[in-house]
Amino acid sequence: MSDKKKRYLITSALPYVNTVKHLGNLVSSLLPADILARYLRQRGEEVLAVCGTDDHGTPAEVSALEAGIPVEEFVEIMHKKQKDIYERFGLSFDLFSRTHTPENIEMTQHLFLKLYKNGFIEEKEIQSLFCKNCQRNLPDRYVVGTCPNCKYEHARGDQCENCSKVLDGIDLINPICIICGKNNTEIRSGKHLFIDLRSLEGRIKEWIDSHQEWPKTTLSISNSWIRDGLRPRSISRDIKWGVPIPLDGYRDKVFYVWFDAPIGYISISKEWAKQQGDPNLWKKFWKETDTYIVNFIGKDNVPFHTITFPATLIGANDGFVLADYVKAFQWLNYEKTKFSSSKKIGVFTDTALELFPADFWRYYLMKIAPERHDTDFTWSEFRDSVNGDLADILGNFIHRTLTFVNRYFDGKIPKACSLEKEDKDMINALIDTSKKADAEMRKFEFQRTILTIFDFARECNRYFQTKKPWADWKDNKKDRVATTLNICAQCCRGLAVLLAPYIPFAAEKIFELLQLKEDVHKQPWNSVGKKISDNHNISKELVPLFQKIELEQIIKLGLEWGGESVKELIKQNPQLAPSEEVKKKAKPKKKKKKESKADEKMTKELIPFKDFQQLDLRVATIKSVEPIDGTKKLLKIIVDIGTEERQIVAGIAERYKPDELVGKQIVIVANLEPAKIRGVESNGMLLAAAADPEISILTPLRKVPNGSKVR
Ligand code: 2FM
Ligand code: ZN
Repeated sequence: MSDKKKRYLITSALPYVNTVKHLGNLVSSLLPADILARYLRQRGEEVLAVCGTDDHGTPAEVSALEAGIPVEEFVEIMHKKQKDIYERFGLSFDLFSRTHTPENIEMTQHLFLKLYKNGFIEEKEIQSLFCKNCQRNLPDRYVVGTCPNCKYEHARGDQCENCSKVLDGIDLINPICIICGKNNTEIRSGKHLFIDLRSLEGRIKEWIDSHQEWPKTTLSISNSWIRDGLRPRSISRDIKWGVPIPLDGYRDKVFYVWFDAPIGYISISKEWAKQQGDPNLWKKFWKETDTYIVNFIGKDNVPFHTITFPATLIGANDGFVLADYVKAFQWLNYEKTKFSSSKKIGVFTDTALELFPADFWRYYLMKIAPERHDTDFTWSEFRDSVNGDLADILGNFIHRTLTFVNRYFDGKIPKACSLEKEDKDMINALIDTSKKADAEMRKFEFQRTILTIFDFARECNRYFQTKKPWADWKDNKKDRVATTLNICAQCCRGLAVLLAPYIPFAAEKIFELLQLKEDVHKQPWNSVGKKISDNHNISKELVPLFQKIELEQIIKLGLEWGGESVKELIKQNPQLAPSEEVKKKAKPKKKKKKESKADEKMTKELIPFKDFQQLDLRVATIKSVEPIDGTKKLLKIIVDIGTEERQIVAGIAERYKPDELVGKQIVIVANLEPAKIRGVESNGMLLAAAADPEISILTPLRKVPNGSKVR
């Protein structure tokens, strides 16, 4: 990162709006972008960090179709859902917006018209897939089939999820229409618009070649595109949902989602400027060369950030500057398999937050960030990292220091007396750590930085342990205890400052416990040496910073969500092996798979009628409904089932308001074992159709007595 630049623009790949993202998406763009932004803000730099949902194209259109909701409405719901999740993860974008905005439509059309005027747009007659059944074109994700490159059988028409190859629907072997699930396609011809990458190749190559400091992942993918020779790429699509093409002959088409998505970075900056009351403010981030621009992306996004988007900006010749650094990440795998949104494999961001605090995920994910090669999320290592690093190393050091200050010095930071070598070494180690971490961060080495900071936290524990303030106290060496605790308190403050970009909630908590009035997020790393004044009062009400994760809980999660690593844990702790009953109930790895229409089949496994009869389904009337504190999704519902009133907990709060439910008749499963959900007892379950994100509660067509059996 250059010190000469005056300001920083940080972009994080715009997540497709259609699904809630998994941890792999979080680690490869959203989270590191936030960490860099927080670090730079701490230094007092001028920073603009933007992100938003990628609203257009077939990903949204197809998912809306599957959910049976008009696309505009679907996108609205999903945008809000993602935005809320990222806020709860502590992602501190200056603006998290979206691409379906007037600003983005205007900017996309503007840049296109510039490209057109400058002679970089070609019209070509091309072949594309047409479904004879549905009588429609099948662009991008409307078709799935076998990837011609890696033979993966569920490749989409735009890109293979398995090998990342960018595809065209007609390349697929055995193409299947996702609407009707049939292979009844033919190839048809039609006119489309192309951006002429050939004519721009020289300038793109020159730009890439001038950035040998970029990660190998970014350079190798970019160079392989250049080596293969750039070809014109289609930027128009025969669908309805997207940015309309402002050109006669194409007004019934929209731009390809990858044409308008990166332009979203600009339009979101423009929106932000408007919100600041200075509509031109965005220009200094995008049109002045003393801005340093960093893009955070997963490796499948590389060609769009180093080839096609720069081609748009260069060809439009409208004064836009190109990125200075493109940080591409490899894949994060889930328990040795691929995370997959379409197959719902892995941990998703909404579930993650329901299970554990944001800082747990933020820490562990950056500790295993796939910066150079693919890495693996495992439940077992997640627990070890939380319990071992956060709780035992960091939490323990802070807690012991503050407890001793309370115990021996009535909660006042004691004045240090003469410093011995170990004391001086500790202060030097703190300063050295901040310098080392700073140098690593400025090279965008997120994993190394957090490891460096935690090495120091380990050092802090060792110091405490070696100095044995409890023994000195016993031996009446009050001065020694005072010095040790003074040094430890400085280290607590220093750790909070250094860790603030990574685990912001814990950093705030440490400042709170130290009763420091300043904002931890405004303390630059080079201020870690700043002393807390002698006699400063700390909090007397200490609470542990991190709650440890029980082995049993992680085994349960691994069984529920799928995880090879927990098998090893069970082997080592046979007493925690689940009973046969529990094992039977454990969902298989792909349990939540929401298949595309093409794959969607009703289960062929038939069950005997007597199995169905085991379910005691009853009609019930809702008597009262109230939200459950501390949750966004859960409602506590009291129902009348004729013979008694029951309390059930249902995860429907995002789609139903208590008022609209009271008095309604519903159907419940009355013979479910009682369960505790977030500590609240649930005696049954209501039935609802789940068409993510829509949830529709089942209700009898006519009023019937409560308790009526449903068969
Ligand atoms: O891969 C994805 O999720 C894309 N929606 C990323 C878009 S990045 C940017 F260019 F908008
Ligand atoms: Zn079809």
